[in-house]
Amino acid sequence: MTLARMCATAEDTQRAGEEFAALLQVGDIVLLDGPLGAGKTTFTQGVARGLGVHERVTSPTFTVVRQHACTAHPTLRTLHHADVYRINHLDEVVDLALAELVEEDGVALVEWGTLASSVFGDDVITVTFAIDDETRRLELSGPALARRMSAAEQWVHA
Ligand SMILES: Nc1ncnc2c1ncn2[C@@H]1O[C@H](COP(=O)(O)OP(=O)(O)OP(=O)(O)O)[C@@H](O)[C@H]1O
Ligand SMILES: [Mg+2]
Repeated sequence: MTLARMCATAEDTQRAGEEFAALLQVGDIVLLDGPLGAGKTTFTQGVARGLGVHERVTSPTFTVVRQHACTAHPTLRTLHHADVYRINHLDEVVDLALAELVEEDGVALVEWGTLASSVFGDDVITVTFAIDDETRRLELSGPALARRMSAAEQWVHA
């Protein structure tokens, strides 16, 4: 089954992120896959809103990964927001140790994460962004979704 949602505006994409936050569980690694300007950072800002992050979320392109404290989730305490677009070697992604960072009480959203798929393994959620003029099509996929299909279906129909 296809889990896709159309977002006509940047605010729609933020709302899709905010509602996606309801699906998240401790330890999740979410790969954000789509071309430049597709809305990966915009979506992450929505996720941050959903998780009760107070500070502004901006592109971590030059810092590679940023941490944000979450205040609105029963178990998630930290949102790790990474962007691996400028990374030259997979070793650098390995060194981020995101899987360890999220283990206890975090989740990670990784822009351009599918460039480093082999580092993250299979147990991830992928959000694929496609651009059609102003509209963005967001599609969820990945084995990690199987455990929460009804929530994912709610996200599609929200
Ligand atoms: N429907 C839409 N959803 C998301 N962004 C939109 C939409 N329509 C227009 N935009 C604009 O597209 C841009 C998306 O930028 P954003 O930084 O979120 O993309 P990105 O995928 O993170 O890019 P990069 O690969 O450079 O990190 C913003 O300027 C936003 O205002
Ligand atoms: Mg970005």
